[in-house]
Amino acid sequence: MKAIVVVDRHWGIGRKGGLLFRLPEDMAFFRATTLGKIVVMGAKTYASFPHGALPNRTNVVLDDSGRTYPDAESASTPESLAKLLAKYPDDEVFVIGGASVYKLLLAQCDEVYVTKVNADGDAEVFFPDLDAAPDWKLARCGEPVSDNGFTIRFCRYIRA
Ligand SMILES: NC(=O)c1ccc[n+]([C@@H]2O[C@H](COP(=O)([O-])OP(=O)(O)OC[C@H]3O[C@@H](n4cnc5c(N)ncnc54)[C@H](OP(=O)(O)O)[C@@H]3O)[C@@H](O)[C@H]2O)c1
Repeated sequence: MKAIVVVDRHWGIGRKGGLLFRLPEDMAFFRATTLGKIVVMGAKTYASFPHGALPNRTNVVLDDSGRTYPDAESASTPESLAKLLAKYPDDEVFVIGGASVYKLLLAQCDEVYVTKVNADGDAEVFFPDLDAAPDWKLARCGEPVSDNGFTIRFCRYIRA
């Protein structure tokens, strides 16, 4: 399992139920990376999408309210999620947020795709700081890219 996230310089990821920045280049990267794959998300992240489930991906929503989704599979516990994912043994799985689901599933991830934005987004919710985590190491970071006035870098962390 892998995670994919865009963070500000404090590992902030969201505010008021939404993202911190509008980043078309990063959106394109996210789309290209996750197309055809399984994407696992929390109920709040699903609710933040304007058109429901992300197209051309198997969407899985973690939701303990008992709600079902017309365009996504859902799981109400980490155990039922594991059972559901076992139906797709050959598929790549990306955890796509938000904060609570990253926290829940990071221990099961072996790689994290981190887009780093060189700005302070005044975040309310955060991803764990992988630079301060002894069990993670920065494997690579691309050259800075300009995206809608921001400077971003596409980085990869792997388990140390
Ligand atoms: N920067 C990024 O890359 C990125 C990516 C994704 C999201 N975000 C941001 O992150 C924020 C949302 O994060 P969030 O932590 O507030 O919400 P979230 O993780 O998207 O969703 C939280 C909800 O998921 C369900 N859930 C979580 N853990 C569960 C478990 N163990 N079992 C069953 N259900 C579980 C619960 O839904 P119910 O209460 O309905 O049961 C919970 O309320 C937004 O601001 C969003 O824009 C940022």
